[in-house]
Amino acid sequence: MAYDISKQELVNLYELETLNDFAIDFMKAVGATDEEASIIADGLMTASQWWHPGQGQGLEKLFRYQRRIKGGGIIPNAPMEWITDGPSYALLDAANGFGYVAAYRAMHRAIEKAKNTGVAMVGVRRSNHFGIAGYHALQAAKQGLIGWSFTNARAEMAPWGSTQVILGTNPWGIAIPRKDTHAIVLDMALTMSGKGMMRWYQQEGRDMPDNWALTPDGRVTTDPASAMDGPLLPIGEYKGYGLSLITDVLSGVMTGALFGQSVFQDESNYNVGHMMLAVSPSAFMKQDEFDNRLEALVDEIKSAPAIDAKRPVVLPGEIEFQRMSERERDGIPVSKETVEGLRKLAAEIGVDCPL
Ligand SMILES: NC(=O)c1ccc[n+]([C@@H]2O[C@H](COP(=O)([O-])OP(=O)(O)OC[C@H]3O[C@@H](n4cnc5c(N)ncnc54)[C@H](O)[C@@H]3O)[C@@H](O)[C@H]2O)c1
Repeated sequence: MAYDISKQELVNLYELETLNDFAIDFMKAVGATDEEASIIADGLMTASQWWHPGQGQGLEKLFRYQRRIKGGGIIPNAPMEWITDGPSYALLDAANGFGYVAAYRAMHRAIEKAKNTGVAMVGVRRSNHFGIAGYHALQAAKQGLIGWSFTNARAEMAPWGSTQVILGTNPWGIAIPRKDTHAIVLDMALTMSGKGMMRWYQQEGRDMPDNWALTPDGRVTTDPASAMDGPLLPIGEYKGYGLSLITDVLSGVMTGALFGQSVFQDESNYNVGHMMLAVSPSAFMKQDEFDNRLEALVDEIKSAPAIDAKRPVVLPGEIEFQRMSERERDGIPVSKETVEGLRKLAAEIGVDCPL
């Protein structure tokens, strides 16, 4: 869903460089190495350029990372270790390190292998929040490979027909490289929306769509407040629930990470699991042939007449890349609430805050 910021007075605008430098300084001050700080900042900047602040994937994440490092749930510069390392598969023990860093390393290992074998799948256990799934998938697309990344997450979705939360929003990022232009990037949670966006609607005094979340006793509602303690609803009803379950099998059960309700429950051992997949189109046909066939499909899609002329048909990821260039020109929105919180936190940990 493409969310709009209807109340501009809720955000401040900043230049990318200001936010990026601050994210790096902040992460280093809480213990990250230079390499870790730059991977995390790059992910947070991509999120800040792509998403609505209510989706909570930009600088908002700094609060959580700092709290988790303090509580021992995230260990900077963790001694990550390869448990298996086969020709087309591998498994990384992230040793409670940063999720962004573990997923980045796992995807780059998958890319390296897929260049030799055509396809590679790399799992991660004992990890943390890996950020936006599309960021990791895009690593592969930048090198001409198809990237697919997914993770399990804290239980917020109930199995279809129940209100008992057991599965996470378990996002998927899939990036398909295109010749000479942006990749197709499908980057999505398996729930219709998230609690952060519900809070944003609440702040704006808006009703939310009735397919975002249920009340704790299972009633349909458009009131964000009454569903705040209820389950988030899956995309595509029972089909999204099925996808979330399968995602937890591949990224949680099969990697040796936690799964189901236990993910993110123990503050000293979050043990999140991820899975990264890289596929080389040239394992199947000549690269040129793939590029031409893909563009033929894109042309068909783009020639579909729009129901509403103001909303032309777009490819997955197109809205985000367009937003990226708009924000480069106009500035990146950060919620005023986040800015205030970061000013306080930066002062506490002794980092200059340019916000
Ligand atoms: N790490 C975690 O635990 C976690 C959990 C949940 C979400 N996330 C991240 O949060 C971010 C936001 O996820 P989301 O599900 O709220 O995103 P979203 O619903 O805003 O967008 C999902 C996808 O739909 C596409 N899309 C939107 N409108 C479209 C249209 N009209 N036509 C074609 N495609 C369209 C977008 O390009 C995007 O690829 C993602 O980066 C996701 O990975 C992370």
